[in-house]
Amino acid sequence: MRFSDDAIVITGGSGGMGEAMARRLLADGARVALVDVNEEALNSALARLGVESSQAVGLVADTTNEESMKRAMSEVAATFGSATGLITAAGIRQTAALFHEIDLDRWDLINKVNVMGTLVAIRVCREQLISTKGSVVTVASVTAGGARWAQSSYAVSKASVSHLTKQVALELSPHGVRVNCLCPGVTNTPMIAEAAKTDGPGVLEAKVNGSLEQFRPGIPLGRLAEPEEQAAAAAFLLSSDASFITGIDLYVDGGVSMIG
Ligand SMILES: NC(=O)c1ccc[n+]([C@@H]2O[C@H](COP(=O)([O-])OP(=O)(O)OC[C@H]3O[C@@H](n4cnc5c(N)ncnc54)[C@H](O)[C@@H]3O)[C@@H](O)[C@H]2O)c1
Repeated sequence: MRFSDDAIVITGGSGGMGEAMARRLLADGARVALVDVNEEALNSALARLGVESSQAVGLVADTTNEESMKRAMSEVAATFGSATGLITAAGIRQTAALFHEIDLDRWDLINKVNVMGTLVAIRVCREQLISTKGSVVTVASVTAGGARWAQSSYAVSKASVSHLTKQVALELSPHGVRVNCLCPGVTNTPMIAEAAKTDGPGVLEAKVNGSLEQFRPGIPLGRLAEPEEQAAAAAFLLSSDASFITGIDLYVDGGVSMIG
């Protein structure tokens, strides 16, 4: 029960990773606030979590809309008291497109949600986190550290999330607030099920077939991650077990980053 009495906010809380993170933190004693733009998915995730509203709440907000995020954080404070932790898991993917063909409005949207949305989420939580000496985990991707075919806007956005994490970690360090970046490899969630239809490694040979299996050969451990494995790493970074760790990237990728 290492998060006993903690109040932890998860953006993208109704996504595959967000829900697994919520389940893990609840099991460790936390109260969780799931923040997501998708109200229907939020209600379904809360129903699957199956806990009392005193343990988990869902708040509809768009991380790129600072006013809606401020309202969500006021609700968190009124319901649970000041947040002791934040995970920024809200994000959107890119459909495969070469850099010279990518639609610039789509480029803007991906970077807006993935980068600016992360910035906004952290800054609306800033005062609450300072008051609790809390901790933040951002969610980038294994693509933060290396290029991926036809994924320029997503990879650039995730490299930005990694760097933003260090900027924010530095500026929050005088307040005792730690900020670290989780870099997941391919993980079995709705996002990757969608990506499998258009964006797998087979995109080079036009052999994308919708199967998650297509991602497996490039992963040294020979399989995709389960969202619970990302949740375990996020829980570690949030917890006092990581009390002297700030500004790092933690790759949870089955070994992909070790081979470049
Ligand atoms: N699944 C993977 O293989 C993988 C790998 C590396 C990184 N990631 C990253 O992990 C994070 C979680 O991904 P996932 O696989 O759970 O995806 P997902 O699509 O299942 O969940 C993402 C959630 O974010 C929400 N969201 C999107 N835009 C939002 C906004 N502006 N405001 C609030 N909520 C918003 C969506 O409604 C959705 O519930 C994302 O940032 C993703 O880029 C995923």
